[in-house]
Amino acid sequence: MAGHRHNDLELTQPKGVLLRRIFALAKPYRRYLLGGAAIGVFIAGLSLVQPWLLGAGLTAILGPLTSGVWDWPSVRPLVWYVVILVVVTAVLMGLRYGNQMLMVHLRMRILTDLRRRIYRKLLGQSFSYFDRQDTGQLINRTIGDVNMLRMFYTMFLVRGTEITLFIIAASAVIIWLDRYVALAALPFVPVYLVAMILFVKRIHPKFHDMRDELDRSTQILSENVQGVQVVRAFGREHEEAARYDVSIRGVLQRWLGLVRNFAVFQPCVFMLGGASLLATVAMTSYRALDGALAVGFIYTVFRWSAMLTMNMRQVARMTATLDHSLVSAERIFEILDARPDVHPPREPTPLPAGGGHVVFENVSFGYQPGVPVLRNMDLTIPAGTNVALVGATGSGKSTFIRLLPRFYDPDEGRILIDGVDIREVDLESLRSEIGFVFQDTFLFSASLAENIAFGVPEAERRAIERAAQRAQVDEFAAQFDEGYDTAVGERGISLSGGQRQRVAIARALLMDPRILILDDATASVDSSTERVIQDALADVMKDRTTFIIAHRISTVRRADLILVLEDGRVVQQGTHDELVERDGPYREFVTMQWQLGEDGAEDAG
Ligand SMILES: Nc1ncnc2c1ncn2[C@@H]1O[C@H](COP(=O)(O)OP(=O)(O)OP(=O)(O)O)[C@@H](O)[C@H]1O
Ligand SMILES: [Mg+2]
Repeated sequence: MAGHRHNDLELTQPKGVLLRRIFALAKPYRRYLLGGAAIGVFIAGLSLVQPWLLGAGLTAILGPLTSGVWDWPSVRPLVWYVVILVVVTAVLMGLRYGNQMLMVHLRMRILTDLRRRIYRKLLGQSFSYFDRQDTGQLINRTIGDVNMLRMFYTMFLVRGTEITLFIIAASAVIIWLDRYVALAALPFVPVYLVAMILFVKRIHPKFHDMRDELDRSTQILSENVQGVQVVRAFGREHEEAARYDVSIRGVLQRWLGLVRNFAVFQPCVFMLGGASLLATVAMTSYRALDGALAVGFIYTVFRWSAMLTMNMRQVARMTATLDHSLVSAERIFEILDARPDVHPPREPTPLPAGGGHVVFENVSFGYQPGVPVLRNMDLTIPAGTNVALVGATGSGKSTFIRLLPRFYDPDEGRILIDGVDIREVDLESLRSEIGFVFQDTFLFSASLAENIAFGVPEAERRAIERAAQRAQVDEFAAQFDEGYDTAVGERGISLSGGQRQRVAIARALLMDPRILILDDATASVDSSTERVIQDALADVMKDRTTFIIAHRISTVRRADLILVLEDGRVVQQGTHDELVERDGPYREFVTMQWQLGEDGAEDAG
């Protein structure tokens, strides 16, 4: 536990570098920051003046009070002090309000800006990045760490000026006012500061620890909500509940530990502060009775001391925030600095006109270094070919098709589409020419029509409906009261697997891509639905290069070219008729299906 915590707070970059970058981030808001700091100067000054005016007023009222003479000359100073005090208080209130508004503005801007930058960055990241990263952590970073960092700006750059100035000015004024009083009031200041910093340093990792445990319990909870079907189906309610119990109890224990720390520390500091205030007041009173100070200053000095203590507490809190802000900043920079493995070309060319002629030249690829998944692939696929990929699970079929839109780049060799190396093609242009239908189709919380138009948001309604028709979406869309305007996804109607697939096909069709890829797209539908989809597809696939990954002979046998993959290599290629003639994995695959299911038998008949 301790080790874990320690690592969390450790920085890999030097503090100076981080700080410089944090300031650089704030550059667009320089005016806000400077404005805030400037207001801080005035706030510090006026907060110092306020108790002095009160003290002076107090002194002024004591004259008439003791003498009983209330004529104008003896009341005049009092009246003046009161008038000035009212003005100062009003101005101070105005400044505080202005500062508050400024800070809210600043925070919102920094927050929005950073989140937007992170979001953009993530969208531009290559797939290998998401393979490595934990999604939950990424989301936490865009929310939690950005929050932490924005606190840094307002706390240090805006409030920091005010606090520092006040501490310096108040100490100086007390010394200037009376050295004996300063002797009683000021030694406590550094003692208090050191005590607070030590305490905060001790308590903060504990806080951090508690938050970690809280995160963990949240994760258990969210996993169980999302995977409730699995939990129920496997009768794991008890174990999961116990796991949650342990975690939540851990949170409670850490909480209690924190409370204990506070319970011991707070009274100590309180006593220390009380003793110091007592000494200060005693000394000030003594000096006042001595005639060295006006009586009203007893109040003034008392107030200043209290304010000094308050500001010291802020400083202590800032030192703790500093550590955490730096950690947060580092994590944010890590995201912003991550260079995508798939680089967009320096001088991008649009994909030249063509029908989707695909060439693999000695292509090798692995997700991790030293673990090849595709090995030395050499293929030429003429435009308009319908290619079927077959092979055992894990043989590299999905990996193969992921290389075409450059979700990953080959480690060796190159891929050409219509005569151009895809690494030289503008990424957007490349991807807009490749349509994808995955097995699992993600639907966004939007209308059916909007989901279909995801790749082409500017598509006309008629085009959307035509694509939907060709993908047989209209069949079930007609059943909804609102037709294509029905809300689907998380916050709408849930579609069945087959229905979702048809939406995905419509989505791909609307893009009218040169190359269409279907990865196990019909795996989760029954054979009659598959036939419906197949028919829809046959029409669509006519003049496009298509790659279909399928396990059913009925789908595979229609292809112009069948590629049989084994362990990342193409071990057989040809048409169905050619391949069944030959001894080899394809014939095994066909025979197996004949024996196993009617699917194959039906088709073969
Ligand atoms: N994102 C990834 N990161 C690391 N390894 C991966 C990743 N995706 C796939 N692999 C590995 O690459 C190999 C090929 O996987 P791939 O998904 O291409 O197989 P497949 O032929 O599509 O299998 P299936 O028929 O089960 O879909 C497997 O060993 C798999 O573990
Ligand atoms: Mg696959």
